[in-house]
Amino acid sequence: MRRIFIAGNWKMNLNRTESVALATAVAKGAAEAKSVDVAVCPPSVYLDAVAQAVRGSSVGVGAQNMYFEAQGAFTGELSAAMLLDVGCRYAILGHSERRHVLGESDELINKKTHAALAASLTPIVCVGETLEQREAGRTADVIRTQVEGSLAGVSAEQMLGIVIAYEPVWAIGTGKTAAPAQAEEVHVDLRKLLAQRYNAEVGQAVVIQYGGSVNAKNAAELLSQPNVDGALVGGASLKAEDFLSIVQAGVSRT
Ligand code: PGA
Repeated sequence: MRRIFIAGNWKMNLNRTESVALATAVAKGAAEAKSVDVAVCPPSVYLDAVAQAVRGSSVGVGAQNMYFEAQGAFTGELSAAMLLDVGCRYAILGHSERRHVLGESDELINKKTHAALAASLTPIVCVGETLEQREAGRTADVIRTQVEGSLAGVSAEQMLGIVIAYEPVWAIGTGKTAAPAQAEEVHVDLRKLLAQRYNAEVGQAVVIQYGGSVNAKNAAELLSQPNVDGALVGGASLKAEDFLSIVQAGVSRT
């Protein structure tokens, strides 16, 4: 049985005081939502403070990125061990802003995925098509290529420890969310892809979040889709009340 997983991707927002306050409020609110997994992903400089703020609660902490090497001369990068050391449980990998703004390839995301798994961090691997790709009818192909590239060499057992986030690029930060049926269609395709690559059990077991303009108003409808197992929330995760409403929509699904 897949658990609903709601994660907040704070991106490059908030200062230290605001981060700790938001994390504290989320931890308090999530105490009422034991049937749902909840995580917050603050900017890396606040991971430590946020991990301390949510300590003892059910809320997990995730990084928004990491590097695949274990250590060494990689100026500005952070290793999986460093993230674990400050209390992370998750790492978002291959977010569309990293793919499109910072030029990350499936090959790089794949290396990061293996490094995260080796360190027992749960990767949240993001995939999603651009508007141009969708309009050209290429959504399924693009998703397949991203899955095959980002998850190359991942075993069936490892796959069970990975979360996939389907985030159509055209829906991220635009206020234009995918229609629930559009999200469901891609999630079903993703399960078929996983079933082909691995087996039926893996296809059914992997948690697949939807992301892209999820908010307190549309969350329940998106989460009502049987193959949508949660949400990766950007803008609406910056206000405790909004984020907790989305968590609550997850609770109603369980
Ligand atoms: P958004 O971002 O909710 O602000 O669209 C989602 C994401 O990028 O993870």
